[in-house]
Amino acid sequence: MARFTTLTVREVRPESPDSVSIAFDLPENAKSEFSYRPGQYLTLRKEIDGHDVRRSYSICSGLGDGEIRVAVKRVEGGAFSGFANDELKPGDSLEAMLPEGRFTAAVEPGAAHTYVAFAAGSGITPILSIAKSVLEAEPGSRFTLFYGNRTVRDIMFRDALSDLKNRYPARFSILHILSREPQEVALLNGRIDREKCETFFRSMLNVHAVDRFFLCGPEGMIGDVRAALADHGVEAEKVSFELFTPSSDAAAKAAAARRARMAKKEGEALASGSEVSVIYDGVQTDFTLEPDGISILDAALGDRPDMPYACKGGMCCTCRAKVVEGRVEMDLNYTLAEEEVERGFVLACQAHPASDKVVLDFDAR
Ligand code: FES
Repeated sequence: MARFTTLTVREVRPESPDSVSIAFDLPENAKSEFSYRPGQYLTLRKEIDGHDVRRSYSICSGLGDGEIRVAVKRVEGGAFSGFANDELKPGDSLEAMLPEGRFTAAVEPGAAHTYVAFAAGSGITPILSIAKSVLEAEPGSRFTLFYGNRTVRDIMFRDALSDLKNRYPARFSILHILSREPQEVALLNGRIDREKCETFFRSMLNVHAVDRFFLCGPEGMIGDVRAALADHGVEAEKVSFELFTPSSDAAAKAAAARRARMAKKEGEALASGSEVSVIYDGVQTDFTLEPDGISILDAALGDRPDMPYACKGGMCCTCRAKVVEGRVEMDLNYTLAEEEVERGFVLACQAHPASDKVVLDFDAR
């Protein structure tokens, strides 16, 4: 079964000096498959300089926009983001997986909810989709956005955000927090961190009147806002978050922690490689893998380049698979719920064998 669909680019629009949004023309027969929930993302694939490059980008369009559009911010040295910002043009083709992601709002027409979002940089992308969608479909709901950037020039979707403010002046509020451009209101200068949240919660935001929080940005911001909300007694179930990039040393620390965990399990340390089988699209592939080497996903990709993945950072869940035999140890997991882990699901990009035989089923649901 092909997991990628070829889409034609309809528009490439600048959204800030270093970001663009890309709208697609959907083939008639793919329209229903590509219907999405606000906050989800598309995994795009393109061969660039002979390499198969895949990246996940959040959808920024709202359900009422009648289009599917993602935003791509330039990352220094980023193969795909550089290509999208510099070369991509209408009429070009990109391959895309169907929309995925759990960072999403259940839009309920007739609901009257209070939503609050904290975003930094390109973390605005899924939040814009959620804000547009709930404001349009839920006339009784309100949405407040705290949006952090370095300067006004760095703000993505400035026009779209002011359109939203003009359209829903009584129900949509936005506060720009700038770290490198002083503003008149001192409270809005600096970064969105734990201390800043404390001040917001004391002075202007009653967190107990909020039905749902959405956080999207770098790991530091998300950790700080979650901690501040927890300090104020906000239940974790009310808080959804999506990480853009984990801190650079998170993977190394997690791998070291895994090694320590495995070493502690007396008598279970694997002297040599494990026999690993992966099942994907009904086809089984077998290989031997050292417990302390590359991940099960990377090993499987050697034989099966069609294996599903996007971020390889434990964030997107595209590589989710079920352990049907044996045990594995994961490094990072930013996306699987506890209940899924209990049912045996793992992220193959983060999984290493921890028993002599391991079978991972990518088709299990
Ligand atoms: S590829 Fe994204 S979590 Fe594994």
